[in-house]
Amino acid sequence: MLSVNQVEKSYKKGGLFSGERQKVLSNISFECKQGECLGIIGESGSGKSTLGRLLLGIEKPDHGTILFEGKSVDDRKARLGNISAVFQDYTSSINPFYTVEQAMMEPLKLQGMVRQEAQIKIDLLLYQVGLNPSYRTKYPHELSGGEAQRVCIARAVSTEPKCIVLDEAISSLDGSVQIQVLELLKSLREIYNIGYIFITHDIQAASYICDRVMIIRNGQIEEMVKIEQLKDVQSAYARKLLQMIIT
Ligand SMILES: Nc1ncnc2c1ncn2[C@@H]1O[C@H](COP(=O)(O)OP(=O)(O)OP(=O)(O)O)[C@@H](O)[C@H]1O
Ligand SMILES: [Mg+2]
Repeated sequence: MLSVNQVEKSYKKGGLFSGERQKVLSNISFECKQGECLGIIGESGSGKSTLGRLLLGIEKPDHGTILFEGKSVDDRKARLGNISAVFQDYTSSINPFYTVEQAMMEPLKLQGMVRQEAQIKIDLLLYQVGLNPSYRTKYPHELSGGEAQRVCIARAVSTEPKCIVLDEAISSLDGSVQIQVLELLKSLREIYNIGYIFITHDIQAASYICDRVMIIRNGQIEEMVKIEQLKDVQSAYARKLLQMIIT
């Protein structure tokens, strides 16, 4: 489904006129199959969110290619309705002047759905993410963090994408709500057969939901491991990351 080949990305370092560049990602190659949940784990600053933005086509790699079903993710048409995103900051992900219904209507309209059809879909989606239909008329500030993130997830799922990039999507929620949202993601995956790219620094959350995890360190892939083999990771760095959850 997603095929990443020899991707590199660097950013300008320091001041406006400084020619120096910081390499944020190098030599990133991997595949993600239809319906697979791939975790991307690494320390802060390791390049996870940058990789997420490249996968979403928000930014372009300096070198290498990112193909979604054989087409470059640069191509808006290849992405539209096929890849969506859920970010950590759910408060700014929803326009504060939009009701839940208006926020959810947006991507459906873009897909050419008529209003009546979209309203039925919104009711179903709210139900699927565990929110009462009365939430349609609420504004973002009237929602708890967990509820707002459920709305963001419902919106990301609404176009029935083949892949959702979730960047620290549960990190701002507290413990029990995190588990509820993870359960929700698991159930939606079964309903829609969606693939997830699950970006997190929380290896425990990743091991709960992912089929495979990619451990990224200083912008490079340190190791790629199936979840059943997580205990047998090879590199010292991956072992160190793992120890943090075992102890
Ligand atoms: N637009 C940008 N311009 C310049 N530097 C950037 C930009 N985006 C990211 N960086 C730098 O790239 C590096 C990787 O950042 P990134 O946000 O991808 O890390 P991360 O793994 O997501 O970290 P965290 O776990 O804290 O979210 C950092 O050193 C960051 O400062
Ligand atoms: Mg990040």
